[in-house]
Amino acid sequence: MFHLTVTKNYQDLSNQTAQYLADYVENNPKAVLCCSTGGTPTGMYEELAKIVETKHINCSEVTVIKFDEWVGLDATNPSTCEYYLQKYVIQPLKIPVKHYIHFDNSTTDPEKECERINLLLQDIIIDIFVLGLGTNGHLGFNEPGSDPRLHAHIVQLTEDTLSHPMLSGNTKPVTKGMTLGIQDILDAKTALLLVNGAHKQKQFARLMTKEISSDFPASYLWQHPQVECFVDRVATE
Ligand code: GLP
Repeated sequence: MFHLTVTKNYQDLSNQTAQYLADYVENNPKAVLCCSTGGTPTGMYEELAKIVETKHINCSEVTVIKFDEWVGLDATNPSTCEYYLQKYVIQPLKIPVKHYIHFDNSTTDPEKECERINLLLQDIIIDIFVLGLGTNGHLGFNEPGSDPRLHAHIVQLTEDTLSHPMLSGNTKPVTKGMTLGIQDILDAKTALLLVNGAHKQKQFARLMTKEISSDFPASYLWQHPQVECFVDRVATE
């Protein structure tokens, strides 16, 4: 099932998706969430933190999984997914360290790090997999051409991904990423896809053709049993 909600604007998208997550966590205190980073979900995480605080929702049993990470950047680097998740999710929701599963930024062996994550995730079912849509159709760092059967793995990043605004202030060389795979997304109970802005119109239109192609990784979502897609109106124009 692919359930589509078109929102008035980005703020409305952020409010509705935050409410969706808050309701889920309130009813499922042991929820397992896999969280993407990037510009798209920031508003949602900010609103979620507000709801959690006002309604006193206890997140101490919630598990958070980091979807992806650049290889070679320290956790203190503001360009990292780690920095982002600490700021917008882990700290505001007070997720205990033992319930945070994440690619370690300080790894010297990313291959082994992916194996470690795969072992940890073997017996875990992700309830909600939060996704943004890359400008080249990527999900996390699953770039065009990715094998959809992969779990956590290393990726040689495309120019398009390396020009993501997250890296704009970074001076260290980055060429690779670690990411959970398309298979992990397909195995999650629900994929929560957020799309916003005029710069995502082409990508959203391509997704909505329903044509599944490895050139456009987000199209694998059409194989997912439960997708909740929230898009703001401008991205649908
Ligand atoms: C980056 C992140 C992804 C994110 C995507 C879209 O590559 N690693 O997890 O979903 O870009 O980013 P944005 O939401 O900024 O468009």
